[in-house]
Amino acid sequence: MLPKHREYPFPIPCGWFRVAFTGEISKGEVKSLEYFGEEQVLFVSDSGEVQLFGAHCPHLGAHLGRGGRVEGEMLRCPFHGWGFDKAGACIEVPYAKRIPSRARLRRYPTIEKDGIVWAWYHPTGDEPTWAPPDVPELSNADWSAPVHHRWTIRTRNQEIAENTADPAHFSAVHGFADAPAPRIEFLEHCCRSVSESRVPRADGEMATSRLEVSWYGLGLGLVRSTGAFELLVAGTNTPVDEATVDACFSFSVCRARGLSPDEGAGKAFIHEAIRQMEQDIPIWENKVFAERPILCDGDGPIGPFRDWASQFYP
Ligand code: FES
Ligand SMILES: [Fe+2]
Repeated sequence: MLPKHREYPFPIPCGWFRVAFTGEISKGEVKSLEYFGEEQVLFVSDSGEVQLFGAHCPHLGAHLGRGGRVEGEMLRCPFHGWGFDKAGACIEVPYAKRIPSRARLRRYPTIEKDGIVWAWYHPTGDEPTWAPPDVPELSNADWSAPVHHRWTIRTRNQEIAENTADPAHFSAVHGFADAPAPRIEFLEHCCRSVSESRVPRADGEMATSRLEVSWYGLGLGLVRSTGAFELLVAGTNTPVDEATVDACFSFSVCRARGLSPDEGAGKAFIHEAIRQMEQDIPIWENKVFAERPILCDGDGPIGPFRDWASQFYP
């Protein structure tokens, strides 16, 4: 429980969120997850398709991640053997003549691409209104295999994303000599910020690079650095519950441009991104959400950002 002054005025946002990386789960495996303040099971059927269901059986409530089995395209409950198809509908009851029509598991729409398993969360189960974007760098042989860094943060998705609309914190928190002056635009479920940024070179000197930060809902922030370097950070933030976020940075660097995540500019960039994240975390974990912030002329577009973010609380 949060103390009253730490409560947050919004529930868990809807949208696409990373629930696994490809390779974290294999065919026939049933994995228990806890996201969105709920419990789920993630599994891969024989055809290779990934599905995410609510963890508890509609019959008598058994947890399908505790002994549930994948049989072909079906998931079978360990308690009385009811079988569910990939839409979540019960299609087999080993000992009944009629299958109760309302017997179905909660299903979260899923998409697996570019090494990420995405699930759509909506508080009332509405179907997706947009799709997660392609992240071609993550599945391109010219780019290095992603290196993941993960944090469990006591905050909310919106607070993390709001940093993009807050260039003024770069000096105080991250020690930048000049705050960046990004151009920020909001379009449907996307928010994009473009700026010139100083990034460290392998020799310790700084170079100028174009930095583009694109949010797709509140679950994915893609940072692309071009110019001096070609680098990518895919920041995937998944709500664990109302007050906790499972955050991950997946780094990939352009090998075709001679970069490596293990040395030189690639390594320095990754190090710098992690350093900045770890400077932001204590701010997020201890701040309150200022509903009526007092802003000044040098602040970024906090108001427009919040208007944009409000679409994710249906
Ligand atoms: S609780 Fe799942 S089949 Fe009975
Ligand atoms: Fe920051």
